[in-house]
Amino acid sequence: MSVTVRVPAKVNVQLAVGAARADGFHDLANVFLAVGLYDEVTVTPAEELRITCVGPDADQVPLDRTNLAARAAIALAARRGIEPAVHLHIAKDIPVAGGMAGGSADGAGALLACNALWNAGASRAELLAICAELGSDVPFSLVGGAALGVGRGERLTALEVGGTFHWVFAMAGRGLSTPAVFGEFDRLAQGREIPEPVASAELLQALAKGDVDALAGAVSNDLQPAALSLFPELADTLAAGRGAGALAALVSGSGPTTAFLARDAESAEKVAAALRASGTCRAVRMAQGPVAGATVL
Ligand code: C5P
Repeated sequence: MSVTVRVPAKVNVQLAVGAARADGFHDLANVFLAVGLYDEVTVTPAEELRITCVGPDADQVPLDRTNLAARAAIALAARRGIEPAVHLHIAKDIPVAGGMAGGSADGAGALLACNALWNAGASRAELLAICAELGSDVPFSLVGGAALGVGRGERLTALEVGGTFHWVFAMAGRGLSTPAVFGEFDRLAQGREIPEPVASAELLQALAKGDVDALAGAVSNDLQPAALSLFPELADTLAAGRGAGALAALVSGSGPTTAFLARDAESAEKVAAALRASGTCRAVRMAQGPVAGATVL
C-alpha cells in the first residue's frame, strides 16, 4: 500500500521584509500564489526511513534526514510515538533552491501522505502547526491557492482570487541559499530605517478582481535587490522577459528563479520562447495560478 500527494510550487507576488528580529528571522508580509508546477511525494511502508528522488534536479536533493520530507515524517511519527518507517519517493519537478518552495512542498506532501498512510488522524490545525515547525513556507504548500503570510510567513490568511494568471518561470544556472539572501538583505539595509512590512491594498484588490494589469503594477519583492547583488546576471534574464512583453518581471521569493506575468497563454508562449532564446537561463517553464495546495491523489 502507498499514498501519493501532489504539491504545487509558489510564487510570491508581494514579499515585504521587515528588519531582522532577535531570533534572526524577519517579519514578512508575504503574498503567496500557488502555481501549477508540482512535486509528487509517495510514501510506502519500509523497514526504515529512506528517501529516493527522481527528476531533472534530483542530484541536488539531499537524501538524508535534513530533507524536509524526512523531517515531516519524523515529526508526525514522534507525535504519535511510532517509528517513521517509510520509503519517501519524491518525483521532483519544482526547481531546487529556486525560491519556489520546492523543499517546502516536499515537507507538506510527506506530512499529508504519512498522515493518510498511518491513519494518524492529524487535524488540519495539527498539520499546519507541524508545517510551521518545519519551515516558514511549508504551511502555504499545504493550503495552496493564494494567501497572505505574516510573522515569518507561516501565519496564513486565505485570499480570494478572481481569475487565473499566466506565469513564465526562468530557472537559473545555480541556486541561491535563502539564509544568504536574507543576510545580504540585512547587509544592504545597514544604516537604513526598515518599515514594518504590510500587504499592499492595490495588490490584494488586483488579485480579488483577477485584474492582470493591476497585479502587474503592484507586484514587489524586497529580497530582489539582495538576490541581484548575489547573482547580478539575473538582471539580464529579467530584461529578456520584459523585452518579450511580460507585464511584470521579478525574482521569485529569495530567487534565483525569475517570474514573469503574462497577459494570456499566447503572450506567455512568446515570453517563454524569448527567454529560451536569450541564453540567460537554464530552463523555462509556464504555469498558471492559483491552484489547489497539497492533494492526495
Ligand atoms: O523558515 P525557513 O527554514 O524556510 O527559513 C530559512 C531561512 O530563511 C532562515 O534560517 C532565515 O535565515 C531566513 N528567513 C528569515 N525570515 C523569514 C523566513 C526565513 O530570515 N521570515
